[in-house]
Amino acid sequence: MTDRLLLTGASGRVGSLLRPHLIRPGREVRLLDPAPPRGAPHPGEIHLSGSVTDPDLMAAACKDIDLVVHLGGHAGERPWRDLLEVNIHGTYVVLEAARKQGVRRVLLASSAHVVGMLATTETGADTVLPPRPDTLYGVSKAAVEALGSHYADAYGMAVVSARIGTVDPAPDSVRSLSTWLSPGDAARLVEACRALTRPGHHIVWGVSANRRRWVSLAAGETIGYRPADDAERFAVQIPGAGSPGPADPAVRIGGPWADQWADEWADQHPRHPAHSEPQNEPQKETTAPW
Ligand SMILES: NC(=O)c1ccc[n+]([C@@H]2O[C@H](COP(=O)([O-])OP(=O)(O)OC[C@H]3O[C@@H](n4cnc5c(N)ncnc54)[C@H](O)[C@@H]3O)[C@@H](O)[C@H]2O)c1
Repeated sequence: MTDRLLLTGASGRVGSLLRPHLIRPGREVRLLDPAPPRGAPHPGEIHLSGSVTDPDLMAAACKDIDLVVHLGGHAGERPWRDLLEVNIHGTYVVLEAARKQGVRRVLLASSAHVVGMLATTETGADTVLPPRPDTLYGVSKAAVEALGSHYADAYGMAVVSARIGTVDPAPDSVRSLSTWLSPGDAARLVEACRALTRPGHHIVWGVSANRRRWVSLAAGETIGYRPADDAERFAVQIPGAGSPGPADPAVRIGGPWADQWADEWADQHPRHPAHSEPQNEPQKETTAPW
């Protein structure tokens, strides 16, 4: 029996690292992205060129699919209208197409930046942490999670929102010794989602079994995600890595994206260009009255 996966945003960093791990005899992997896939096609891969915001393309892409892995979109801070169109509306189009085509399982690429403002001493709970986004990008991912929750509840789909840390071939900074998700573990997460038989929405951490991780793997365990990699073996190559120790309350999980706001209230001028884009709506006063 053919097993069919759809990867949106397959030509990006995560998709390109995942692809070689997903090849199986008898499996078809549809790679949907406006950009061409990186490198030569692997056996079973098919490229679909276009946007997740195109309902007709998404309907065709979702036909007979066993799992949608939705990576496509903006992976960093952007003007609000771009995030709204691609990350939020695009996820709606993906879920709607999946629902109409009878797809039972969807993995949504969420992000640690949904809770980026939390101190790393506050993120270890086994329970799901409510959003505390460090950027409008983080806000868009909170909306992605909310869409996933709704489609799971309303239509009995199995939807996993993975709060991904840092996907790279290897960790390359002190922060990523805590946040790294290895390509192999990303693939283990995909296979756990492929095997899901229970409907419902699950928010899990997309991180490896890093000794220095700041987050819990308990929710992932409930869906069968068992990471095998630990960033610690790369620590000797990373300047300033030192030894593993307790989390530092002064460090936020969003790293520099969260730290940019530390003295924001002092100068009242948001630094990120996305926050100084011309807007159609009248601007609200950003100075809190307290
Ligand atoms: N890389 C990480 O460490 C990391 C961490 C947390 C979350 N994520 C999330 O994982 C996903 C993939 O991240 P990435 O690092 O590969 O990003 P990336 O920017 O390298 O790739 C994103 C891909 O999405 C495609 N894309 C953009 N607009 C699209 C559209 N309208 N329709 C279809 N595809 C579109 C791009 O062409 C690109 O190939 C993103 O959703 C990102 O937010 C990534």
